[in-house]
Amino acid sequence: FSVATQRYRDPEAVEKMNPFAEQEAWEDHQIGKATLKFGSKDRKKGSEDYDYVFEDQIDFVKVSVMDGIDEEPNEAEEAKTISKGLQEERKTLPIYPYRDELLEAVNDNQVIIIVGETGSGKTTQIPQYLHEAGFTKQGMVACTQPRRVAAMSVAARVAQEMGVKLGHEVGYSIRFEDCTSEKTLVKYMTDGMLLREFLGEPDLASYSVVMVDEAHERTLSTDILFGLVKDISRFRTDLKLLISSATLDAEKFSDYFDKAPIFKIPGRRFPVEIHYTKAPEADYIDAAIVTVLQIHVTQPPGDILVFLTGQEEIETLDEILKHRTRGLGTKISELIICPIYANLPTELQAKIFEPTPEGARKVVLATNIAETSLTIDGIKYVVDPGFCKIKSYNPRTGMESLLINPISKASANQRAGRSGRTGPGKCFRLYTAYNYFHDLEDNTVPEIQRTNLANVVLTLKSLGIHDLVNFDFMDPPPSEALLRALEQLFALNALNVKGELTKTGRRMAEFPLDPMLSKMIVASEKYKCSDEIISVAAMLSVGNSIFYRPKDKQVHADNARMNFNTGNVGDHIALLNVYNSWKDTDFSTQWCYENYIQVRSMKRARDIRDQLEGLLERVEIEISTNLNDLDAIKKSITSGFFHHAAKLQKNGSYRTLKNPQTVYIHPSSGLAQVHPRWVVYHELVLTTKEYMRQVIELKPDWLVEIAPHYYQLRDVDDPTTKKMPRGQGKSAL
Ligand code: CDP
Ligand code: MG
Repeated sequence: FSVATQRYRDPEAVEKMNPFAEQEAWEDHQIGKATLKFGSKDRKKGSEDYDYVFEDQIDFVKVSVMDGIDEEPNEAEEAKTISKGLQEERKTLPIYPYRDELLEAVNDNQVIIIVGETGSGKTTQIPQYLHEAGFTKQGMVACTQPRRVAAMSVAARVAQEMGVKLGHEVGYSIRFEDCTSEKTLVKYMTDGMLLREFLGEPDLASYSVVMVDEAHERTLSTDILFGLVKDISRFRTDLKLLISSATLDAEKFSDYFDKAPIFKIPGRRFPVEIHYTKAPEADYIDAAIVTVLQIHVTQPPGDILVFLTGQEEIETLDEILKHRTRGLGTKISELIICPIYANLPTELQAKIFEPTPEGARKVVLATNIAETSLTIDGIKYVVDPGFCKIKSYNPRTGMESLLINPISKASANQRAGRSGRTGPGKCFRLYTAYNYFHDLEDNTVPEIQRTNLANVVLTLKSLGIHDLVNFDFMDPPPSEALLRALEQLFALNALNVKGELTKTGRRMAEFPLDPMLSKMIVASEKYKCSDEIISVAAMLSVGNSIFYRPKDKQVHADNARMNFNTGNVGDHIALLNVYNSWKDTDFSTQWCYENYIQVRSMKRARDIRDQLEGLLERVEIEISTNLNDLDAIKKSITSGFFHHAAKLQKNGSYRTLKNPQTVYIHPSSGLAQVHPRWVVYHELVLTTKEYMRQVIELKPDWLVEIAPHYYQLRDVDDPTTKKMPRGQGKSAL
């Protein structure tokens, strides 16, 4: 079989993970032999059941054992737990014996740093303890999570434990989805949402406790939150701050928070055997599939957790595993496949927590979310390809890309640890021991040091924080990146020459979107097309999951998609056409099926659109429609995205205008075959090439008209147009 999927990898990074040359040196360090032996050898022995399943096999070497931290498993104890109710189960968590001590520490200190193994009960229990101890009488308890799925799933679990309806006493708040009410006392939320709450309530008056959870992830929002909560804690002496995580450089955090005490929750973890591949794997997707099947066929019962980089990979693996296990003989038990990623519908997310039926084995296909934010019981085997998707930003060019990169050693060890929660486990790393020791960084670089800061700068400016250079960052961003962000906001007219927020900037800050998107929306007032623009913004915010292409109907799907691009209007307008056509059918699900459109994504777009409509009202922009003037819509888009202008080259590639870089139109774009001379794109993705995804055609003089600070006439001077006969040349300009 072949894996027909597009993988977003940084070729250099993959290269780096494959240093064949230096492999030999590591042979000495290999302890023991591969534990998984089958394939051709077993075939000879006549284990017919297996031999048609595996065309391939992977040789692993066991190199080390990660120490367990606590006692051996006590099966009788565990069986007891399962039979008792949730309240009893709460008492079996490692954190439970420390309940009173922890509450005492919170009473005695304003800030504490909490470190405890994943699964010890930090996220689900601490907010409940605080509630039980009466903290919620003074205000809500907030608990932040870097990921949406974690916030939702943990809130659901805690509501269940407290026996209340989700959204009542226990709720969650994530971007574009607020599941809380007046009753809410315990609120799980993404770190980004708490950051936004500062805008409306700079002293967080409605909260009595803020728990910044998963602090080790060091997301951009978490890092900014550190500075803000530290600042307000000086005058809000009644506000309690908890900074918690599974793997923290606790000293560093303690130092940052003025020597706050560190509270350690001793974990329960069993030894984990670490296996590495003998040789580097050329394709980690293939390798992951083979490894899962190898484990399933050769290893004792216990569920498998596979770490992948995103939805596309998870779907690919899901499909292939389903296909390949269909042919398994009756001697082999059932393999239940459970995907988990951010866009998965909530009903399906619950499936990963359901106990595995007797005789079957579960394989959870997860993104990084399962590394520390979600605990899935019953995992005994971890398959770790060693990659994750991370955002990287080049402040010099201002380009941001989502790349597949090798993980850090800290991540690799967290991943391995997931297999040793309920008993001894095994972790299969799909890279070599040499790679682990020589190529992986110790820790992931904090997001603040590798991202576009325009959004954060805009938020801080609207909070009245002007002196960004002296903001109390735990690890300051590169000054070049700060400067870039200021420049970008200035070009977008969100800041004036003094670096102060303009009226446009203040309006932009109301939208929970990237500044370019916010600017596009604010600009729609001028072009009288706010109705269309919020549809475009909502569709772009849903991401890349509007259209689907079933393998057996690709031609039909592509044709359906091209219908929305009639007249080569461009991808943004095509998205608008999709939205409007769906609306015309009264939001029909059947219509979505017929047009190869994901109804779930469309519903999400509709929700987002509704909220953007509410925000338009708040910033006093009238809803006006201008559907027949495509240029007006495109000018609005350009007002936000003029940084993303590119010009066609003779060889069919494009060159970005400022900080020239060679880019291409993504093959999925409606304009891929059209090659307009000038384009504006929504985002860049690096696969085999640097691709522009979501592209519209542009008239170059718009750039000078819309962004005179940024583009001068010479930037859009186009000698090829001048050579044309007069009339034509004019129309092209
Ligand atoms: O935050 P920490 O990693 O310390 O642990 P937790 O997320 O509070 O998890 C404590 C326990 O609750 C684990 O045994 C999980 O399996 C369980 N849990 C669950 O069953 N369902 C969830 N949605 C979340 C946690
Ligand atoms: Mg947690």
